[in-house]
Amino acid sequence: MLDRLDQQSPDALLALIKLHNADPREDKIDLGVGVYKTADGATPVFRAIKDAEQRLVDRQQSKSYLGPEGDMAFVRALEPHVFGTALPSGGRIDGMQTPGGTGAVRLAFGLAKKAGITRVFMGVPSWPNHAQILDDLGLEAVPFDHATSDGTADMAALRQVLANAGEGDALLLHGCCHNPTGVDYTPVQWDAIASLLADSAMLPVIDLAYQGLGDGMDEDAYGLRTVSAAVPELLVAYSCDKNFGLYRDRVGAFWVQSAIADTTVRAISNAAALARANWSMPPDHGGAAVRMVLEDEALTASWLAELASMRERIGEVRARLAAAGHAGGVDLAPLGRQKGMFAMLPVSAAQVQTLRDAHGVYMAGSGRINVAGLTMTNVDRFVAALDAVTG
Ligand code: LMR
Repeated sequence: MLDRLDQQSPDALLALIKLHNADPREDKIDLGVGVYKTADGATPVFRAIKDAEQRLVDRQQSKSYLGPEGDMAFVRALEPHVFGTALPSGGRIDGMQTPGGTGAVRLAFGLAKKAGITRVFMGVPSWPNHAQILDDLGLEAVPFDHATSDGTADMAALRQVLANAGEGDALLLHGCCHNPTGVDYTPVQWDAIASLLADSAMLPVIDLAYQGLGDGMDEDAYGLRTVSAAVPELLVAYSCDKNFGLYRDRVGAFWVQSAIADTTVRAISNAAALARANWSMPPDHGGAAVRMVLEDEALTASWLAELASMRERIGEVRARLAAAGHAGGVDLAPLGRQKGMFAMLPVSAAQVQTLRDAHGVYMAGSGRINVAGLTMTNVDRFVAALDAVTG
C-alpha cells in the first residue's frame, strides 16, 4: 500500500537551514528562512521570554490538558496588542491558541471551507506554504499580482478581484511585512481595501505573522484594525513566532469575527472541532511564556523595547542596501521603501545557485532574501557577491 506513495522533495525553504548549517565556510551568509538575527548573527531568546520561562518553571503546578482552544488567557492578553481599542464588542469576536501561525492559517481555511468557501484569492508571490495548505484542503487558490513592477502594491489587480469575486470566495491578505516581497499596503490603500470589502461578499482572511517588525505594533496592525472595523466577518491568523522569537515553540492564535455573537460562538465551536481533529490542542509552553510577558508591565516593556531594536536594525540594513543603489543587474533602491524581513530580488534560479556555491550566500530559490540575515559586517560582501553574479 505505502509503496504507492511518490517521493516528495523536502520543503525548499526549510531545506536551506540544513544546507547552510552543513556549509563549513566561515563567511557564509544565511538569508534563507525567516528568522531574525542580531548584528552578531545570533537568534537569541528575548530577555522577557527568558524571564517568563524562568517564572513558568518556578510557578507552574501542572501540565494537565487545557482543551482544543489552548490557553485562553494568552489569547485575551494578546487581543489589545492585535486589535487595539478597535476590538469588536458584544461577543462578535473570539479566538483560540494555535500551533504557530501555520496552525492558525490552517484553521482559518479549514473553517472557511466548512462555511462554504471554495476559492481563495491570493496576491502572488506569497508565502509558499499558503498555497500548500490550500491545496491540501482542496481549496482553489486564485492568484493575482500583489505588486507592480515599480515595487508598490498592485491596487488595480486587487480592485478587480474585489469587483468580480463574491459569495463563496475568500481574500487572503498579509497584515504587514509582506512575505516575500516586503511590499505593504499604505494606510490610504488599507482604507480603500476596507471599504471595498465592506461592499463585497468575499470573506477576508488576514495573516499577521510579523507584527512589530515593520513600522511598529500599532502601525503594523492598521490594516487589520481598519478592515475589522469595516466588515461584518473576518478571520485572523496570527503568529508570535517572530515577534516573540519563539519559532520552534510554535505560538500562534486565530480569531473569528462575525456579525453577531451567536454566529461567532458557532464558528468557534467548529474551529475547536477542527483543532481537535488536527492537533487536539496546541503546545502550551511558548504561549504560556507570552502570556506571562503580557501580564507583567515590566516584561511587556522589555519585550517591546527589544522588538523595537530589531525593527530598527532591519531598517538600518534596508537603508544600507538601498544606499548601495545597483548591485550588478539588481536595483536595491526599493528595499529602502519596503517593510519587514523580506525582499524579492530579480535573480534567476541559476544565479541563486551561483550565489550559494561560489559566495556562500543562501537565499530562497525564488530570489527572496531575509534582510534580517544581513549585518553591517557582511552587507558589503553580499552586495559585492550580487554584483559579481548579476553584473
Ligand atoms: C519564512 O517564510 O521563512 C517563515 O515564515 C518560516 C516558514 O515557516 O516558512
